[in-house]
Amino acid sequence: DTVFILNGPNLNLLGLREPEIYGSDTLDDIANACDDHAQGLGLTVDLRQSNHEGHLVDWLHEANALPARAVVLNAGAYTHTSIALHDAIKAIGVPVIEVHLSNPHRREDFRHKSYVGMAAKGTIAGFGLTGYLLALDAAAKL
Ligand code: DQA
Repeated sequence: DTVFILNGPNLNLLGLREPEIYGSDTLDDIANACDDHAQGLGLTVDLRQSNHEGHLVDWLHEANALPARAVVLNAGAYTHTSIALHDAIKAIGVPVIEVHLSNPHRREDFRHKSYVGMAAKGTIAGFGLTGYLLALDAAAKL
């Protein structure tokens, strides 16, 4: 079974971007760790990143058409703004697991609302790269 791991805006800059918040792992590091971990779970990973909201919507639809076992979604700042992503998650039958590297609830007020989380099956936040692996564990058990 395939799990989509979708990453939103600015996550291509991981490792360079505010490392005191997001750590030193790059998105390639996350991709490699997810591949290894998924193999042990008997899953295949399809990890993507886009800075464009509509691409993320299209990929949610694609996950549904396959269908993928689950979608792991770190929507970056679109988490806090995107009714389109909220609606797409609601529209599809594939379970979506929300992931954040940081814990948005410890940060600015504008990060406390998650349109993704309001539609997702569940959320993992604050554990850096490990959160992606925990999300794969959850996907394996769905
Ligand atoms: C993030 C948290 C968001 O608030 C922020 O806009 C990001 C990254 C995280 O993984 O911690 O871009 O999704």
